Amino acid sequence: MPKNQVTSGKQKIAWVSKHMQIINKIIDEYRETQPLSGYVIVASVHMEAKTAYLVQALAELGAEVYATGCNPLSTQDDVALALNETPRVTVYAKHNCSDKEYWNFLKKALKNRPHIIIDDGGDLIELLRNTCLEYSDRLVGGCEETTTGVYRLKALASQNKLRFPMYNVNNADCKHMFDNHYGTGQSALDGILRTTNLIIAGKTAVVAGYGDCGSGIAKRLRGLGAKVIVTEVDSVKALRANMDGFRVMKMDKAARLGDIFITATGCKDVITWHHFRVMKDGAVLANAGHFNVEIDAEELAICSKNHYMARNNIEAYELNSGQTIYLLAEGRLVNLAAADGHAAEIMDMSFSIQLMCVLDIATWLTRDMVGYHTPSGLYSVPREIDDKVAQLALKVQGIKIDKLTEEQEDYLRNGF
Ligand code: NAI
Repeated sequence: MPKNQVTSGKQKIAWVSKHMQIINKIIDEYRETQPLSGYVIVASVHMEAKTAYLVQALAELGAEVYATGCNPLSTQDDVALALNETPRVTVYAKHNCSDKEYWNFLKKALKNRPHIIIDDGGDLIELLRNTCLEYSDRLVGGCEETTTGVYRLKALASQNKLRFPMYNVNNADCKHMFDNHYGTGQSALDGILRTTNLIIAGKTAVVAGYGDCGSGIAKRLRGLGAKVIVTEVDSVKALRANMDGFRVMKMDKAARLGDIFITATGCKDVITWHHFRVMKDGAVLANAGHFNVEIDAEELAICSKNHYMARNNIEAYELNSGQTIYLLAEGRLVNLAAADGHAAEIMDMSFSIQLMCVLDIATWLTRDMVGYHTPSGLYSVPREIDDKVAQLALKVQGIKIDKLTEEQEDYLRNGF
């Protein structure tokens, strides 16, 4: 069985590698010089084929990599087993492991005293400032992949508790403008469609949060024929959703109207007991935000008289008030827990940013040796990295664009 799993994992990684042409170009550029040789990297990622290919790229450029999941439900065991067979790579991850096992995997990886970390959601950083502090002695810096992790880093930085320099990969244009928007827009619906096998057209869909992710989801839902309602707490985002043609209202009101609900806020308690009790019979709930705190599944269980698995990844809750509500993937990110995550071409851009940031951090270590230490803090990804990845992406897609003439540059710089 594990042998078949390894074969299946290898096939999945081989498939995405053909569609991750930007990373392939970066690997080609740096393979000979092996700029990550001698570096230990710990990567906490959604363990599926695209992240596996990023990990392989790091190893191919010389790094010794310890990879873990960043969410117990998004780990694909076949991919984890296949990745573990890569030279210089060790994987600690198992699908649906307990919380205790999950944290132990992260600790085991950190014991290797990384020079560089790749975090997705901030759990590695959380350990490194608490129980795993002793393993941070060689840490030069790291990258954070997602919005929620960045919130956590910002909170730490504001309290002077962030002890390392971290790149805010999420805010690179080539990441959030494509991954969060188009990636989540498509893959969240992929997760819902695969899991429920229900029609979207004609239904009323409620999207909570109109940020990068939520706006992408709302647009894709409209494309599939749904009547879309948006809920927000930010006035500007709410206005934008309205002008983009969506109905905007409070969740209290939307809860009565929706057939499908998708949360993408990065906040907690977005859909709670007040909402469950007024929902339509058969309402489907899914979350695309990083943590499973947006839909209050505990309260859902408390106000239910019965609870059973309706189908793989669909829990049915029979409420005391009579309706049955369906929760997908335990309220964890539906696109990763119930599907394969974002499209390969999208993650090619995000992970090219990650890879370029890791290569950049590796140069910090050389500077550290001559006495310079990059101060702790949250850093924006340098514009040159964004530009390089965008240029490579255009090249891969065979798109050529205009270039400013000297006169135009002068006009734009001087205003005349
Ligand atoms: P964002 O900051 O661009 O948007 C979040 C929006 O939610 C904001 O407009 C905010 O005003 C709104 N919001 C906050 N609390 C709310 C509430 N209680 N009710 C209604 N609206 C509320 O963030 P982004 O990039 O859209 O990310 C959202 C979440 O999705 C984060 O947890 C992020 O980590 C996660 N994410 C998930 C991905 C996936 O693959 N499923 C990919 C990228 C990000």
